[in-house]
Amino acid sequence: MNRRLFFNRLLIGVGAASIVKEKAYANKKKNNSVVKNPISICTWDFKEANFQAGMALETGKDALSSAIIGANVEEENPKNSTVGYGGAPDREGTVTLDAAVMDYKGNCGSVLGVEKIINVSSLAKDVMEKTPHVILSGKGAQNFALNNGYKLNSLLTDDSKKKWMEWKKKSVYNPKTNVDNHDTIGILCLDKKGNIGGVCSTSGLAYKMEGRIGDSPIIGSGLYIDNNVGGAVATGMGEEIIKIVGSFLVVELMRNGKTPKQACEEAILRIYRKNKSPKFQVAFLALDKQGNSGSSCLQEGFSYYRYKNNINKNLKVKPIIN
Ligand code: GLY
Repeated sequence: MNRRLFFNRLLIGVGAASIVKEKAYANKKKNNSVVKNPISICTWDFKEANFQAGMALETGKDALSSAIIGANVEEENPKNSTVGYGGAPDREGTVTLDAAVMDYKGNCGSVLGVEKIINVSSLAKDVMEKTPHVILSGKGAQNFALNNGYKLNSLLTDDSKKKWMEWKKKSVYNPKTNVDNHDTIGILCLDKKGNIGGVCSTSGLAYKMEGRIGDSPIIGSGLYIDNNVGGAVATGMGEEIIKIVGSFLVVELMRNGKTPKQACEEAILRIYRKNKSPKFQVAFLALDKQGNSGSSCLQEGFSYYRYKNNINKNLKVKPIIN
């Protein structure tokens, strides 16, 4: 056999073996995949949002639709200054929203820098389902929303306008995202069919530069799902999360055998090692295909909600920095 033929046959052999291995893996996962008790997990103390997602799962809704029902609760809450209506504006006084969604088939959609549309997580799902694209931004995303029945609403509340005008007096950019200033709602759901879907929605960091986009709508950074393995969402300083492609990293670490908690810890440690005494917050939250959840954060203050069996429980997360 000549040399080229030998190597070609070798490559075909390796390829075939990988396909067989992948099929065996998928079949093994399929057999384990019926879930009696669906699960929803949600960043921060968004109790009602996670409860609504859990209730939707109980009625048999799919994972992504349930996650969006949860996210809509905070997008419509004027008291939440970091998501949806009532979100803090950029330094020019304009509120812009970002969101991403991903389903169990690996389909995803996201919207960036959208003005005057409240339910941007629903809009991201519409981008996923009704366009040939994955991402729409700015005016194009808003026009797409209007063509699909969304209404324009001012997102700036009297309270957020007052705080912005106060901030403008000194204009010092020092974003504090933590327990008293949650920056993102991220929800991961495991539905009755054993499928995972998730959402990430935010108004971004308060008083950001005009046009700034954080991690939340960037697939792989703020959100990532692989239905054979699990899903992850991120919250906190978006610039740092993007630099390590955080949510994708967490899912890949779970694929390689780490538990959700271990995977989140490793991702947080990568950010910690790159930054000497970081002052900002970052947290990851992950859910695996078997319904195990885990989280890790840099600083004190992060917690998440977990819904299962009619119990919606707040779980405090131990920080890497004590
Ligand atoms: N994590 C949200 C943001 O940085 O915009």
